[in-house]
Amino acid sequence: MTSELDDLKVYEETEVGWDENTPPNEILDGEGNVITDKNYGDPNAPPRRVYDDLEVVALREKLRLNNGIRGLDICDPDEIERITRIFRRDGFVVVRELLNAEQLERFREGSARILKELLSIPGHGKRKYLNETGRLPHRYSYGTSSSSRHLMHDPAWASMVDLPTTTPILTALMGEDDYYVWGGGGDLCLPGAIEYQQLHSDFKDDQDDGDVRLDYARSSGLIEVDPDKPFEELDFRTKRLVFDRTPRTVTINFLMSDLTWENGPIRQIPGTHTAPQNPPSVAEEADWMRWSTLVGAAAGAGVFRDNRAWHGATPNLSKEIRALPNLEYSPGWIDEQTLKKSMPYEIWETLTPHGQKICRAITEEPGVWPKGAGVMHALASKRDWTKKHRTTNA
Ligand SMILES: [Fe+2]
Repeated sequence: MTSELDDLKVYEETEVGWDENTPPNEILDGEGNVITDKNYGDPNAPPRRVYDDLEVVALREKLRLNNGIRGLDICDPDEIERITRIFRRDGFVVVRELLNAEQLERFREGSARILKELLSIPGHGKRKYLNETGRLPHRYSYGTSSSSRHLMHDPAWASMVDLPTTTPILTALMGEDDYYVWGGGGDLCLPGAIEYQQLHSDFKDDQDDGDVRLDYARSSGLIEVDPDKPFEELDFRTKRLVFDRTPRTVTINFLMSDLTWENGPIRQIPGTHTAPQNPPSVAEEADWMRWSTLVGAAAGAGVFRDNRAWHGATPNLSKEIRALPNLEYSPGWIDEQTLKKSMPYEIWETLTPHGQKICRAITEEPGVWPKGAGVMHALASKRDWTKKHRTTNA
């Protein structure tokens, strides 16, 4: 019997997705029970997950007319100064052709292989798929659905940590080349992900470590500041600049397909990486924010994101999967004890010398398999069980 998963690809049209038996905004808890959280879903979502449903058609037309940032900057990989300026200004920057044809193929193969594992788990009742815990239907995170929280045990992800195109850019954004990989995963949506995901920051910047970040910003030349003053004696604007220039994480999301107005392009709100206030809910969000997406970025490109910048997923009303596998980096000033071991030593040995240096803090001892690595499951309870009970990749 053939299955829609037999020849799964994360680019071009597919039979996958558009499951009309999965109601809009249906969220599962850790055990797989449906929970109703009115604050979480998209109140404007079409009522049926059907390609030709009249409200889906109407939303598609709105997206066709409006979706995408006008005049989106897209840089070449060697435009380091421009990339750095835009990243600091907006909290994200799109760079074309980060991956060559062979690297793109390798990442596409890995992204499809892992997704196939997730979609092979049957859904409840007549549903085609099992939703991921706490996530809107037809949306999955490669990272959070892995028991180890990362995919650094996978050769496709590990082989991307140090690329000729990305390393000079990361070095400029971090201020120096002695930084860390803290993990990798990414996210994807299937065709028929009709809901908007709420805008969010990936973490809250507590800003309680001014002296550490000032020392780093000073020594790496990220800002010019009086060499003798401790953090507390700086004026308020300079204090802010110290925090603005030292994000705790920088993520690269790689595009497996072109981002179009129709296939769920990521939305990013420029300038919000330095905002301490919370982003609006989906119901309160302004239209211009809904259309603030990275339409026009092509397969093989990537988005460098300050993870504090407000962002969110948008409806995929196409017939194509939209996958954005990622790698997550942290600057040298963070406490490396906070990084989790997710890379097996045997994978680490295959990396370039720079790749080995930046992955040192996430690499296990020889012969020790990282807890949970290699087990994918949509439900949090299943992932937790694996993490507690399995210590090998058998
Ligand atoms: Fe996010």
